Amino acid sequence: MYYVDGAWYKPDEPAIFPEDRGYQFGDGIYEVVRIYHGYLYQWDDHMIRLERSAKELSLTIPSRKELTEIAQEVLRQCFLESSEDAILYMQITRGVSDRQFPFPSNIRPVLTMYAKSKSRPIQQMQSGVRAVLIDDIRWLRCDIKSLNLLGASWAKQQAVEQSVDEAILHRNGTVTEATSANLFAVKNDKLYTHPATNLILHGITRQTVIQLAKNLGIPVLEEAFSVNFVQSADELFITGTTSEITPIVELQGARVGDGQVGSIVRRLQEAFENHIIS
Ligand SMILES: Cc1ncc(COP(=O)(O)O)c(C=O)c1O
Repeated sequence: MYYVDGAWYKPDEPAIFPEDRGYQFGDGIYEVVRIYHGYLYQWDDHMIRLERSAKELSLTIPSRKELTEIAQEVLRQCFLESSEDAILYMQITRGVSDRQFPFPSNIRPVLTMYAKSKSRPIQQMQSGVRAVLIDDIRWLRCDIKSLNLLGASWAKQQAVEQSVDEAILHRNGTVTEATSANLFAVKNDKLYTHPATNLILHGITRQTVIQLAKNLGIPVLEEAFSVNFVQSADELFITGTTSEITPIVELQGARVGDGQVGSIVRRLQEAFENHIIS
């Protein structure tokens, strides 16, 4: 079942408003939340980020209490088994209005929510994936989790057309992140990742991994790094709600480190595994 603007729809029932600004302008925000064994993992962190995205775009959204209640109802309506790994998708657009560029006043936001079964990327996490470098042509407010995903989608498409799994994005030679995940590089036993500026999404998994690394005594540097640096890294991995901690073992056709999943990423994966079940 899909929850759209206060009502429930079956997947084959139309629930779309043609003049929703989400469709016409990408004028809305979203979150993807992991459901492990029937519970919403890091729900509060997703709420905090959603509220921040809304504030940045002057978007009115339902209260956290209201969203939490609807999310619980979504879990019931979507008939997920309690042992099933899944995701909850939540989207809030500014609302429905005559097509106009300035933000219309007096319109109601449209909330869409649903949950779907989604297994964890076990094979990718164990064996690693391949990536290429692609120009980061997205807008300059990547810190807002907005519905404008065409830049990221296009980059991922280019990766797929080159028969690899992921695109590592860079702006003028400075590496930012992946298409729907943050990027970490390991060099001389230190962890590097782009600082949480407007050029990347402030990933919740990124923050968790930084904390887990610190707990393990692995130094973390939130510093921008270059394409050359990433191509000489000992280990590379991406982090995200659905990708969790996925190693990159090949970049631009060349092996990363010795081409095997590295020891630091393994330690972090183990710590993350304990974190999600704790
Ligand atoms: C561009 C981008 N970076 C990073 C992430 C990872 O964020 P999180 O760990 O909160 O899922 C995402 C997730 O969708 C993303 O779209």
